[in-house]
Amino acid sequence: MDIQEVRSLIKVIPDFPQKGILFQDIFPIFRNPKAVETLINHITDHIVSNIKEKIDVVVGLEARGFLFGPIVALRLNAAFAPVRKRGKLPGNIITAEYKKEYGVDVFEMQENAIKQNQNVIIVDDLIATGGTASAAGELVKKFGGNILEYIFIIELVELDGCQKLNSPIYSIFKT
Ligand code: PRP
Ligand code: MG
Repeated sequence: MDIQEVRSLIKVIPDFPQKGILFQDIFPIFRNPKAVETLINHITDHIVSNIKEKIDVVVGLEARGFLFGPIVALRLNAAFAPVRKRGKLPGNIITAEYKKEYGVDVFEMQENAIKQNQNVIIVDDLIATGGTASAAGELVKKFGGNILEYIFIIELVELDGCQKLNSPIYSIFKT
C-alpha cells in the first residue's frame, strides 16, 4: 500500500461534532494493518531522513495522537509522553489552557515526562486552528524540551494553524 491509498481511507464527515465542521475520521486507517504499517513507515522514514538529532521523547496529544505516537516512539527507540486533557494525570502536573477549532480545553503533563534539553517531537492526527498543538508546545517548553518538529497526519490549510507554532512542522496530507 502507498501513502495516497492511506489518504483515501480518511473519511470526511460534514457537520460533526457540530454544524460547519468537516470532521476528518482517521479510524478507518486503523481498521487496516497494512495502512497503519504504511503510515508509520512514512512517519519514521521522514524523521530518519530529515532529523539528524536523536529523538528522546515522542509527545502524543490526547486522544487521537495516542493512536500512533507510541508506535512511532517504539520505532525510534524513544520514550512516549502523553499530553492529557484536564484531571486525568496523577501526581504533580503542569497545565496549559487552549482554544481549539470547537471549544476550550486544558492540557496537562506529568512533571517528570520530559527532562531539560531532551529532543522532542510532538505528534497529533490533525492541525486545525493550531490551538491544541501550540498548548502542547508550551508545556514541552516549560520542561526545557527542544521541539525538533510537529508531525500531523492532516493539516487543514485554510485555518492557518501553523502560524501559531514556532518549530518546524510536517503534515503528511494537506487539505
Ligand atoms: C482534535 C484533533 C486535534 C485538534 C485540532 O482534537 O484531534 O487534536 O482537534 O484542533 P486545533 O488545531 O483547532 O486545536 P479533539 O480534542 O477535538 O478530539 P480528540 O480528543 O478525539 O483528539
Ligand atoms: Mg485531538
